[in-house]
Amino acid sequence: MNRNKLLQTLFKTCRQRTSTICKPLEVEDYIPQPTIDVSPPKWHLGHTTWFFEAFVLQPYFKDYRLYDNDFAYLFNSYYNNAGKRVLRPNRGLMSRPPVREVMAYRDYVTEAMLQFLSQVDDPMIMDIVELGINHEEQHQELLVYDIKYILGNQPTFPIYGEGFELKPETGKGFVELKEGLYNIGADGHSFCYDNERGQHQVYLGKYAISNTLVSNGAYFEFIADGGYKDFNLWLSEGWDFIQREKIKAPLYWHQLEGEWWQYTLQGFQKIDPNQPVQHISFYEALAFAEWKGMRLPTEFEWEAAASQLNWGQLWEWTYSAYQPYPDFEKAPGALGEYNGKFMINQNVLRGASVATAPKHSRITYRNFFHAACRWHFAGIRLAKSL
Ligand code: AVJ
Ligand code: FE
Repeated sequence: MNRNKLLQTLFKTCRQRTSTICKPLEVEDYIPQPTIDVSPPKWHLGHTTWFFEAFVLQPYFKDYRLYDNDFAYLFNSYYNNAGKRVLRPNRGLMSRPPVREVMAYRDYVTEAMLQFLSQVDDPMIMDIVELGINHEEQHQELLVYDIKYILGNQPTFPIYGEGFELKPETGKGFVELKEGLYNIGADGHSFCYDNERGQHQVYLGKYAISNTLVSNGAYFEFIADGGYKDFNLWLSEGWDFIQREKIKAPLYWHQLEGEWWQYTLQGFQKIDPNQPVQHISFYEALAFAEWKGMRLPTEFEWEAAASQLNWGQLWEWTYSAYQPYPDFEKAPGALGEYNGKFMINQNVLRGASVATAPKHSRITYRNFFHAACRWHFAGIRLAKSL
C-alpha cells in the first residue's frame, strides 16, 4: 500500500478512537480542570485537532482555510514558535467555544486531512502526519488519566465504563542479566520520537529485574509496616511531599471501615491484592523499593531486559533522569519543542499501560513525568545489583 493510503487508514482509526474514549462523557465532564496537570477533555479534542491544522494543513495544504483564526490561541499547548496561548492553569475556565463547536472543528479538520492525505507524496510531510497521529495517541492516554481524575474527584464517584482494567500479573521471580555493553535507543527505521534516537551503548553491571510489577497486596504490607511514617525510606523531597500533601496511600485509595477501596473507571471497588499497585509517585515507588531492600531499575536496565519481561499494564518508574541521549538532535522549528525542552527535573518511565493506544509503545519508548505525579497509570518494578 502507498504510504499516504496507510496514513489515511491510521489517521481515521486514531480520530475514531479519540471519539470512542469520550463517548461515555456527559457534556459537563468536558469542561473542568480540577488540577493543573489535568486538562479538560474539550481542550484535548481541540488541541489534537489544532496540531494537524498548525503543522500539516496550514503550511502544506494549498488554499486551506483555518476553521477559526482564534483557535490557535485556545489550543496551542506550549509551542512558543506557534505563538501566544491560553496559559495552562486557565484551560478549565474556557466555557466557550461550546463542546459541539469543538466537535465541529474536529470534523472539519478530519475531512480536510483525509482530502490532503489522498494526494500527499512528500515523505517529510508524511513524517509530520505520522507524528500528529502518535501525538493524538498520547493525548488519548492523557484523556483517560484526566477523565479518571475528573470523575474520581466527584462526590458521587460516577462510573465511566469498561476497557482499562488491570489483570493480576502472571509470571514469577527475577530475570538476571550479565554485566556488559548493551545497545540503547532506536535505530530510526520505524516511527519513534526524537528522544529515542541516537542509538548508543551503555555498560551495565550484573543485575536482576523482577518479572512482575509490585502487587497491591505487597503494598498493603508496606503501609501496614509504617512505610509512610519512616523517614529513613524516603528522599528528602519525597518526605516533604507526603507531609505537605498528607499522603498515606496511593491516589484513589480510600479506607472504609478498616478496608481499602479504590476509585476505578468502573466505579468504587474493593482493592484486589493480586493486581499491580498503581497511581503512586516516583517518591513512593522508591520508598517501597528501599523498604524491600531493593531499588528501581535505570531506564537502561529496563530496556536491556525488556524482551524478557511481561510489560504493558502500567508505566514503570525508573531511577533515570529524563536527559538527552549523547547524540540527541531536536527537529527544526516548532516541532523541536515537542520533547527536548522538557529534559529537566523529570523521571523516565518505561513500558506502556492499559490506557496506551494499541501499538503505540515499544522497548525504546521514553515516557516522562515529574516525581510527584500520581494521576498517570504507573506502577513499580524492582531491581537489584548482583
Ligand atoms: C510524554 C505524556 C509526558 O504529556 O506532555 C502530549 C505527551 N507531548 N503532547 C505530555 C505529549 C505533546 C507528553 N508525555
Ligand atoms: Fe500535545
